[in-house]
Amino acid sequence: MAWSYIVLLSALLGVSWCAEDWTFPPGFKFGAASASYQVEGGWNASDKGESIWDRFTHTRPQNIADGSNGDVACDSYNLWQTDIDNMKALGLHFYRFSISSFWPRLLPSGFPNYTSEDGKRYYNDLIDGLLKEGIEPMVTLYHWDLPQTLQDLGGWTNPLIADWFADYARVAYSLFGDRVKLWLTINEPLIMCDYPFNSGLLAPGIFSPDHGTYLCNRHVLLAHAKAYRLYDEEFRDQCNGEVSIANHLLWYEAWTEDDEEIAELARQNMGGRYSHAIYSEEGGWPSSIEKVMEENSKKKGYCKSLLPAFTSDEIELIKGTYDYYALNYYTSRLVRPAKEGEELTVYPIGDIPDLKAKTGTRPEWTATNSSFIYVAPEGIRKQLVWLKKTYGDMKVAITENGAPDLGGLNDQGRIDYYREHLKQVLLAIKEDGINVTHYTAWTLMDNFEWAEGYSSKFGLYEVNFTDPLRTRTPRDSAAYYANIIKNNGLKADS
Ligand SMILES: *[C@@H]1O[C@H](CO)[C@@H](O)[C@H](O)[C@H]1NC(C)=O
Ligand SMILES: *[C@@H]1O[C@H](CO)[C@@H](O)[C@H](O)[C@H]1NC(C)=O
Ligand SMILES: *[C@@H]1O[C@H](CO)[C@@H](O)[C@H](O)[C@H]1NC(C)=O
Ligand SMILES: *[C@@H]1O[C@H](CO)[C@@H](O)[C@H](O)[C@H]1NC(C)=O
Ligand SMILES: *[C@@H]1O[C@H](CO)[C@@H](O)[C@H](O)[C@H]1NC(C)=O
Repeated sequence: MAWSYIVLLSALLGVSWCAEDWTFPPGFKFGAASASYQVEGGWNASDKGESIWDRFTHTRPQNIADGSNGDVACDSYNLWQTDIDNMKALGLHFYRFSISSFWPRLLPSGFPNYTSEDGKRYYNDLIDGLLKEGIEPMVTLYHWDLPQTLQDLGGWTNPLIADWFADYARVAYSLFGDRVKLWLTINEPLIMCDYPFNSGLLAPGIFSPDHGTYLCNRHVLLAHAKAYRLYDEEFRDQCNGEVSIANHLLWYEAWTEDDEEIAELARQNMGGRYSHAIYSEEGGWPSSIEKVMEENSKKKGYCKSLLPAFTSDEIELIKGTYDYYALNYYTSRLVRPAKEGEELTVYPIGDIPDLKAKTGTRPEWTATNSSFIYVAPEGIRKQLVWLKKTYGDMKVAITENGAPDLGGLNDQGRIDYYREHLKQVLLAIKEDGINVTHYTAWTLMDNFEWAEGYSSKFGLYEVNFTDPLRTRTPRDSAAYYANIIKNNGLKADS
């Protein structure tokens, strides 16, 4: 009786799968990701404009671990065909790259009064080259390299940036929308708003935790929404693509069973602040965070909340502007209320003073050579389950996942990281019924890792940065990933 009940339930829920079957659903897509400033180089090629990362690395090399910059990086501005050959060797179904550097590269002034012929040619060549090999382009419009001209006008703290961004998006959609069907408006607003403004240690190098962070947060959501609506109104009929925004979510887990409330608050603070307005039914800011921010702002002597309110029109504008959820996942944190007088550190990804929350890690989450990544594979599944529970059933693309080391071709640590995370993604698909359609490895090849410069290596391919030819060599993980793609999953013994 009980047994047949379970069989019936399994059939109803569609969970009748064998635990040894580590195969992905038919049509599942595997890719790898990069970002313009991190790989392209050609920082002053042709008529390209200056970006905030050009300015930041040139004027504040002391804020980059090895004092380096992205002037040449992997030289993908010239070596894109080699990159495509490497993707082909891996058997990638798609390649995620950003053309936001094309914002200054294609629109050197930041405004669409003039478009660079060389900028157009570069991205057309790359897109056509990918399609020729059957690799689908997944394009991020903005991966942090804002034109310096727009930064001089306040950048992401100026509300007009939402319109400037939409104007730029129109140029990109009209030039490439015939061939690009997967769009991401903005990459990781958490890491481009919270971390730079809370620390002053990432471009644009402005320390403004009270104001900068939340203005940027608000304007990112509006910019995304305007670019999404514009696609709907002017491009969707002919182009038939899909648009979303890529969110970096750390999985916050209760330190003890008594800490569930603060763990949920931490999720809302880091994930909800960038997702609730878009994916929830009611839209706007998460109400728990609104409340915390009102109290905190009052305590700090402000007469208005530092979390700037949305109008009801804005709430409607932003709500529902997605065709899928794009999740970047790297790591997890434990969270509990801070003890009286306990010191809280914020940077790079630490405690959360706004919530008076202390974060930590489990002993079994091994450290990597990045100060913020501890290996916590189960977090990706828990995160996927939380997204479904919080925002409902939707398609999910994992748009980044990967681990760093200090280099070398034998990268068993990275292989283990990919295997364990892919297993958790499979469990989310098969046990939790979550519709994950894409998985994206960060990253195709070693590149300029922002404040970590070239010291942190995330690549399936190693890049020799002292070699003028920037030679790329496949690591062990490249063969491993190629096999996963070929088999559409993991083999029982791998
Ligand atoms: C471009 O930048 C490089 C340094 O990366 C410099 O040597 C070169 O002179 C610059 N070229 C132009 C045209 O400004
Ligand atoms: C485009 O506008 C910028 C100012 O935003 C100006 O400096 C530049 O000369 C203009 N470009 C052309 C080709 O008119
Ligand atoms: C890099 O990671 C390895 C393995 O966890 C560790 O033994 C080593 O100390 C780390 N090195 C640095 C510089 O973080
Ligand atoms: C997942 O989404 C894809 C694309 O919309 C759809 O074709 C597929 O049927 C969905 N799968 C499930 C299990 O809902
Ligand atoms: C990197 O390139 C430099 C210059 O070509 C060469 O001397 C060096 O041996 C290369 N390093 C590796 C690890 O191949």
